[in-house]
Amino acid sequence: MSSESNVALHQRPSSFEIDEAFIDRSRVVGDVIQTRQTVRPKRLARPAPDATQLHNILTAAGAAPDHGQLLPWRFVIVPESQRAELADTFVQSLIERDHSATNEHVTRAREKAYRSPLLILVVVDVQRGDSEIDFFERTLSAGCAVQNMLLMATALGFGSALTSGKALKAEALRELFGLQDGEHALCFINIGTVTSPTVRRRRPSLIDYVSVLGKAVDTTETLLSKLTTRNEIP
Ligand SMILES: Cc1cc2nc3c(=O)[nH]c(=O)nc-3n(C[C@H](O)[C@H](O)[C@H](O)COP(=O)(O)O)c2cc1C
Repeated sequence: MSSESNVALHQRPSSFEIDEAFIDRSRVVGDVIQTRQTVRPKRLARPAPDATQLHNILTAAGAAPDHGQLLPWRFVIVPESQRAELADTFVQSLIERDHSATNEHVTRAREKAYRSPLLILVVVDVQRGDSEIDFFERTLSAGCAVQNMLLMATALGFGSALTSGKALKAEALRELFGLQDGEHALCFINIGTVTSPTVRRRRPSLIDYVSVLGKAVDTTETLLSKLTTRNEIP
């Protein structure tokens, strides 16, 4: 895309007339957003994203909103060669918190380290830089970066999932990933090729998570009619 057309896509037509480019773009973005869904790591196989695709996924993170440009998050890729170390860490963390863990539990903890072909740890830093930018803002920024990555992975045709768990807080994991004071492991991003289809999750209705200040709205239809009344448009 030329820089000229790039500029055009970022400027809304002054007349507010509907521009085909905006409609097309919103359809593509909407489609990617709505088709992203969690695909369990055990259903993610090789091939993993290649170098160019991985570059696109990681670059997408850098476009996240970041108050004060603190860059309060980072990502650590766990290559194949380090999966055994990660597996040991998962097992160590399991045994530390559950002395009665069975062999089956240990095997399952170990397996988790090998599941998806691209595995990335998300780390947030809640201390670095301006203390006015609190934990919540930093974590939200990390969430935006993660979602950018998931959407880019979806657009490239890959499945993805976030995984968390108690091991993220374990000292052994902090050590393995070299987490500094103020840094916390938020979750893992799993990306790979989908081996079997996943049932689509029912999405919530707008009324379940949107309200309008000063207006009583009890259905999605009322909500939308309030917002589309001409004098309600901000
Ligand atoms: C920070 C975070 C951690 C998550 N960790 C797990 C997890 O450990 N296991 C899991 O099955 N899903 C995990 N999820 C995924 C959610 O369960 C999933 O997003 C939710 O079920 C909605 O489904 P969808 O992603 O298909 O829309 C996590 C999601 C977030 C945001």
